Amino acid sequence: MGSSVSLFIALEGLDGSGTTTQSARLAAWLRNLGHTVHTSCEPSEGPVGQLIRASLRQKPGSPDRSTLPWLFSADRADHLYRDIEPALAAGTIAITDRYAPSSLAYQSMEIPMDQVYVLNATFRVPDLVLFHELDVDVALSRIGSRGEAREIFEHRSQLARVAKHYREAMAYLDARGWPITTLDASLPIEDVTLAIQAAVTALLPTSSEA
Ligand code: TYD
Repeated sequence: MGSSVSLFIALEGLDGSGTTTQSARLAAWLRNLGHTVHTSCEPSEGPVGQLIRASLRQKPGSPDRSTLPWLFSADRADHLYRDIEPALAAGTIAITDRYAPSSLAYQSMEIPMDQVYVLNATFRVPDLVLFHELDVDVALSRIGSRGEAREIFEHRSQLARVAKHYREAMAYLDARGWPITTLDASLPIEDVTLAIQAAVTALLPTSSEA
């Protein structure tokens, strides 16, 4: 059944909101239903993505933070045309952990939202954006329990600002017709997974169409 469904799904949310876990669970569920699935993330594994990670960790010799709006946009072009578009053309369900809404949320803290939007305006709009909404303190405690070196965006005051900008970014994209489903990411993992499955099921062909 259903192997040639082409869908583009993006998962979004604060650091610690569970997008990586839910991407993997969504991919596994879809594969189990017989679909071909491609998973990826942003910053991507490509050369621009690596520059971005170095910059976020403020590694000596890495690009200045002021370059991030352009680097994320360049990385997105690379990710989209090298990776996602070929997958979609082959009739695959492409799931990305973060996409343009992340730029609207994070880079709008540095330059106006309209400018970030313009930098991303030519990129494909996903068929579904799954926004994991999460309280800042819950996000921070989850990040803390991972025990990884914290990146610059992962400090509380910064995270609270990101949360505000995320809500604004989602309203901005919603007003421009982006298909956004908001999830309560403070719920247990399994409940969030079920909510995601319900949203994605609505986009899958019914067995009579497949
Ligand atoms: P993250 O998803 O945390 O990657 P990893 O788990 O590999 O470290 O992304 C790293 C940071 O990049 C995160 O704080 C969000 C930020 N980011 C932006 O600022 N703009 C963007 O467009 C994207 C995709 C991510």
